[in-house]
Amino acid sequence: MNESKKGWWARLWSRPNSKWLLGIPVGGFLAVAVGAVALQTMNYTLHQTSKTEFCYVCHSHEQFIKPEYEASSHFSNASGVQAGCKDCHLPDMQDDWFAYVTKKVIVSKDIIPELRGVISTREKYEDYRPHGAEKVWRHFKENDSKNCRKCHSSENMDLEAQDRFASRRHARAEERGQTCIDCHYGIVHELPENAREILAKIDEDMEAEEQD
Ligand code: HEC
Ligand code: HEC
Ligand code: HEC
Ligand code: HEC
Repeated sequence: MNESKKGWWARLWSRPNSKWLLGIPVGGFLAVAVGAVALQTMNYTLHQTSKTEFCYVCHSHEQFIKPEYEASSHFSNASGVQAGCKDCHLPDMQDDWFAYVTKKVIVSKDIIPELRGVISTREKYEDYRPHGAEKVWRHFKENDSKNCRKCHSSENMDLEAQDRFASRRHARAEERGQTCIDCHYGIVHELPENAREILAKIDEDMEAEEQD
């Protein structure tokens, strides 16, 4: 068959008769390779920055966050299942990649208050705690304690295996529009002194919003 009768496309791939034409497939390959490396690095960074050790860079402060967390049932329990900081405080990477990255960027903004030393001593931490707790509570109340439900599902709770006090509360919680955090707060961290006032204020704000 006469070479010139083949389409230009077929000629391009079958036998490059000038060296630079090889650049098309080679360049394509390189682009894919570079892309893959970039994606791996990004995933690696996201993964590393989700570890409790990373949070400890700023939140370990031997006197507060760390001992509080390590004394809690979510650090160590009979079943040996542990909840890390990210399990309660970050959206799920698989579940919602966009939300995950957005949250990361917001957490990254913590670098500025960190540099200003907002949580660098016990006194400063206690001044900050009511504000931090309020933010977290609002978030949990707004999303129906989504992060708790990653591990605890109300459908799978065997109410009969719970004591009467707990099972009654759980049975009626959904119909009363109550969410986990309404009853279970301060399970990992110490509470600010005015916890009840803050929680009541959040509920009032949310009711007012619903009525609008
Ligand atoms: C660069 C230091 C730094 C790192 C790393 C860091 N934090 Fe923070 N974080 C802070 C500071 C400072 C505050 C107080 C921010 C303020 O004043 O609003 C804070 C506040 C918080 C709060 C309170 C609520 C809020 O949204 O402000 C939560 C929850 C939190 N961090 C969780 C985490 C988790 C989980 C990680 C690990 C994935 C983490 N942080 C990593 C410095 C850091
Ligand atoms: C990573 C999984 C995980 C996440 C996320 C999680 N938990 Fe748990 N939770 C556990 C495990 C495991 C236990 C211990 C079970 C046992 O006693 O063996 C536990 C125990 C509990 C208990 C009973 C013990 C206690 O401390 O009173 C309550 C209440 C509870 N969780 C509420 C919550 C709430 C509320 C949230 C969200 C703020 C949450 N959990 C998030 C895994 C998780
Ligand atoms: C109306 C209040 C209320 C709500 C809402 C509520 N709980 Fe409870 N829960 C209780 C009480 C009271 C107990 C028993 C005392 C305790 O362990 O704190 C309990 C106990 C538990 C226990 C320990 C059970 C056992 O037998 O060891 C777990 C785990 C738990 N709750 C998880 C949740 C989760 C997850 C949610 C949200 C889906 C939730 N609870 C919503 C009141 C509530
Ligand atoms: C089982 C879920 C859970 C785990 C695990 C958890 N937290 Fe929290 N965190 C909460 C809840 C709920 C609040 C809201 C205040 C409260 O109820 O104690 C909170 C509040 C906070 C606050 C606001 C200030 C305060 O003391 O209330 C910071 C900062 C914070 N968490 C950081 C962390 C870091 C860092 C880790 C890991 C070492 C971690 N949390 C592990 C559920 C969790």
